[in-house]
Amino acid sequence: MAIRNIVVEGDETLRKKSREVTEFNEKLWQLLDDMAETMRASDGVGLAAVQVGILRRVVVIDVGDEHGLYELINPEIIASSGEQTGNEGCLSFPGEWGEVTRPMRVTVKAQDRNGSSYTVEGTELLARAFCHELDHLDGILFVDHAKEVYRDSDRPEHSRRHRRR
Ligand code: CO
Repeated sequence: MAIRNIVVEGDETLRKKSREVTEFNEKLWQLLDDMAETMRASDGVGLAAVQVGILRRVVVIDVGDEHGLYELINPEIIASSGEQTGNEGCLSFPGEWGEVTRPMRVTVKAQDRNGSSYTVEGTELLARAFCHELDHLDGILFVDHAKEVYRDSDRPEHSRRHRRR
């Protein structure tokens, strides 16, 4: 495993649409392992492959629940309901955050690292992470949804630690 460089704000790569994964091979598994390691090293709860410069529809998420790591290949949101509004950050926007409204509950259909299909339901933070990471696959960023974007330096006493995706 290896920690990969995270692409940050201003790099046009983040605006590109990622391509479907068609081969479930060692190269994909290496990418998944590296993404999980990179996410954890950065204290994030989610990471999309585009954020390490790979334009493939691959996402890792770990919100610290009992399930632990989710690996989502070619994921799609197939149902959503409710609404939640809260602070959101992104590993590609270090030191920035904004208030974003997302569904309270989403159901995602995806493939695992071997290509088998599965569905998973998430609420609250997990639902938010699914929405945020799947957006990355289409070049959509949280700043597109946020009414305002803040910097840690604006309010240092409140913003020491935000969960980033
Ligand atoms: Co992000």
